[in-house]
Amino acid sequence: MPTISLSDLKRKDLFQQKGYIADSWVDSVSGEVFEVRNPATLDIIATLPEMGAADTEHAVAAAFEAFKTYKKTSARQRARWLRRWNDLCHEHLDDLALIITLENGKPLSEAKAEAVYAASFLEWFAGEAERVHGEVVPPANLNHRILTIKEPLGVAACLAPWNFPIAMITRKVGAALAAGCTTVWKPAGETPLSTLALATLAHEAGFPKGSINVITTLNRIAEVGEALCLSKAVRKLSFTGSTRIGKLLVKQCASNLKKLSLELGGNSPFIVFDDANLETATNACLLAKFRNSGQTCVSANRIFVQRGIYDRFADALVEKIKAMKVGNGTDGSVSIGPLTHERAVEKALSHIDDAKSQGASVLLGGAACSPDDLPGYFIQPTVLSGMPMESIITVEESFAPIVALYRFETEEEVLEKANDCDVGLGSFIMTESLSRSFRVAESLEVGMVGVNVGILSACESPFGGVKESGYGREGGRHGIDEYLTVKSILINVVS
Ligand code: SIN
Repeated sequence: MPTISLSDLKRKDLFQQKGYIADSWVDSVSGEVFEVRNPATLDIIATLPEMGAADTEHAVAAAFEAFKTYKKTSARQRARWLRRWNDLCHEHLDDLALIITLENGKPLSEAKAEAVYAASFLEWFAGEAERVHGEVVPPANLNHRILTIKEPLGVAACLAPWNFPIAMITRKVGAALAAGCTTVWKPAGETPLSTLALATLAHEAGFPKGSINVITTLNRIAEVGEALCLSKAVRKLSFTGSTRIGKLLVKQCASNLKKLSLELGGNSPFIVFDDANLETATNACLLAKFRNSGQTCVSANRIFVQRGIYDRFADALVEKIKAMKVGNGTDGSVSIGPLTHERAVEKALSHIDDAKSQGASVLLGGAACSPDDLPGYFIQPTVLSGMPMESIITVEESFAPIVALYRFETEEEVLEKANDCDVGLGSFIMTESLSRSFRVAESLEVGMVGVNVGILSACESPFGGVKESGYGREGGRHGIDEYLTVKSILINVVS
């Protein structure tokens, strides 16, 4: 299979190595820079401005100034910009995918799927922009007329993770821009390049000066985060990332009671009942576990398999995983890329060691690896059987291609185990019983349930969690409300 590289980009200007403030490509005030590496080869692929609090203030000021006029644009105009942006993403899917693969490591086919997924939020919110309705309220006092209107909150800060570098941006800023907010984006330091390509396309789509600003940082991330949280001009902050950082942002935003949406860590149960279709369940498990090498917030982390199907499920899964090739995502035959960080490999190996030391057996993999002698952050796809409930994976998402199989006997038992968890984001149920799928879906303490599928996200379906997985919803009909406030107007019409 052919391998492709940066020189294959069709639109060279999509590869930007600067921050973006008020329609200009800018360096950091301090002049500092950081490097972006390909996690498969460890090659340096770009050098970017290491921005800090001063740069963040400039970006917020640009967004604040732009809000004065952007909030007065018509919803139809904003919808047109979003649709044009969606079309441009589709025109440049290959370039977006290549940049994602180079900085994140995911295979090209997955990177392309992410680019399509990212664009879908722009198309979705283009539609939603014109469906923001107020209401007329029946008054108790007959001299009154009461109505509500919805208004954009103001400047929205959108903090995205490295695992879906552009889809997590569009899920936030698509909604924000549709609502009439202006935006400051803070991509992860590991994966800013595809975000900058997205900003280039947004500019081309016609969004006004200052409505989109991008801060790049790797090492000053805490400083930038704090500046965004403490800024009174920023009225909304949306974050996707760890529960630990989410809690810190809540504390920092408490000083000015900024509105927050938090999509934080998960620990998805993937439950295979005896009555599951084996083919459907194994295929769904591969998707739920190996998408982005297991680095998704909704990745299947605790795979509970009922006693009657356990051995058949484990055997079939192992056979399918053996056919998956690990390697550089730019090689078209690869289906599992590297992890994005060195420390992710260390964490995955420590999870495997812990499970083994507590009695789990390794059915496949279990070690770091160097496919084609690549120096990057690779681990073998691993299957652990007979997982003890006391193991670390039970309470901490592995964020790696580790299939952890837990045996269970009854529906009641698995529900208790699945819900015995501080977080509640995604979950998966494999069953052919309609009654059971409703019963279990309604009993799980999570924000999202997938039945007989391995990917549960779609732009039209609200995404978010309960418990320590955070609050707020992205996408779906609810996503735009996160960027709006309701104003009520009471009129005295004495006759
Ligand atoms: C995430 O991992 O946070 C997002 C995954 C998705 O949208 O499917």
